[in-house]
Amino acid sequence: ATAPNGCPVSHEAANFDAFTGPYQIDPPEALRWARAKEPVFYSPRLGYWVVTRYEDVKAVFRDNITFSPSIALEKVTPTSEEANAILRRYDYGMNRTLVNEDEPAHLERRRALLHSFLPEELAHHEPMVRRLTRQYVDRFIDRGEVDLVDEMLWEIPLTVALHFLGVPEEDMGALRQYSIAHTVNTWGRPSPEEQLKVAEAVGNFWQYAGRVLEKMRADPSGHGWMEYAIRRQKEMPDVITDSYLHSMMMAGIVAAHETTANATANALVLLLRNREAWDAICADPSLIPNAAEECLRLSGSIIAWRRLLTADARVGGVDIPKGERLLIVMTSANHDERHFENPDELDIYRDNTTEHLSFGYGSHQCMGKNLARMEMRIFLEELTRRLPHMELVPEQELEYLPNTSFRGPDHLRVRWNPALNPERRDP
Ligand code: HEM
Repeated sequence: ATAPNGCPVSHEAANFDAFTGPYQIDPPEALRWARAKEPVFYSPRLGYWVVTRYEDVKAVFRDNITFSPSIALEKVTPTSEEANAILRRYDYGMNRTLVNEDEPAHLERRRALLHSFLPEELAHHEPMVRRLTRQYVDRFIDRGEVDLVDEMLWEIPLTVALHFLGVPEEDMGALRQYSIAHTVNTWGRPSPEEQLKVAEAVGNFWQYAGRVLEKMRADPSGHGWMEYAIRRQKEMPDVITDSYLHSMMMAGIVAAHETTANATANALVLLLRNREAWDAICADPSLIPNAAEECLRLSGSIIAWRRLLTADARVGGVDIPKGERLLIVMTSANHDERHFENPDELDIYRDNTTEHLSFGYGSHQCMGKNLARMEMRIFLEELTRRLPHMELVPEQELEYLPNTSFRGPDHLRVRWNPALNPERRDP
């Protein structure tokens, strides 16, 4: 087989599969061979060029003109006509948001909507995150065992996300199912039967986002980001369009919670498997921010992202024609020994850990990163203080939703002896 630039495809490249096998089990490990000897390769199964080294991934992020983000939310696997018909029935119209918008529209819109992400604005959410975390931990602290994903890590970021956006609290269970469907629809490889179910859920999600938006338009006076966007629309209707608001309502719900839930679950897996690191942050909570950052480096919740070539370009020494698609694998970049010493080791004291690419880089870099960081810090502060003796339930097998980009365990069971709880020892 040959790649679109006429070069032969190696055996490893031909076998690379983003949806089953090694990449699903341990993504950075699955690309070790590529980082070593074929850092940019064409994957015929995926139809994308895969970029694996730190410098190359960063260079692609840095140039969002040559490497357009317009395909970031496109379906990685085209779906059947039947599934597409279901989406049409729901008037599904997910279009430009911020993350998949080209310049100059993107920067204009990003600037117009930055306000809600300023540190003093984000600070308003902190007491709520603290209060929710305490309430949720109260529910299970005397029990001795819990699935943290089911009983804490989905719902709190979702509640915070809705609060951030200004959306009244809704049916959390339905929103969780919608978000999973959106991930499979965009980054997964659903079977023909799954495609139909996913299309129903995504269609419902879209309609739901539209209804919330309509309700909000009646009185957009609140503090939420979407309310702010509705008010800004009056001043700049060409920058903040109706289509943008509807798409952002749906994408925003996902961007703001699933990522944070997964990142925290990934961090807990790493920290509890590296007991010395866990004990260190229990003893000294001031180590938590850097520890959380190191977990984002080693096991972030968005592991790969996409770009489209708007011109012929050279990436990592490989010539790639205009119109080709890139899968830039941040988790592989974050494990690149050319940039991080002992890259596979969890080192909570690492001094360059914040240079990881898990939030992207450059003009599209995650706007919500400081909200995510604040939530992760508070989760870790509360869990280390109240459950320092917790451990992973040993016999569990962690399972991940097969897809190219979003990563976090479906469930995470931990256990402890409630008689040894530092507080509430005698409930
Ligand atoms: C963009 C990751 C949490 C809002 C992005 C991008 C990544 C990312 C990889 C694309 C960056 C690029 O193209 O260079 C994450 C991770 C999170 C997280 C790993 C949690 C650990 C959040 C939260 C919010 C948010 C909590 C909102 C409150 C956004 C927005 C963009 C974005 C609005 C688009 C920015 C633009 O294109 O200008 N995020 N994110 N994210 N994220 Fe996040």
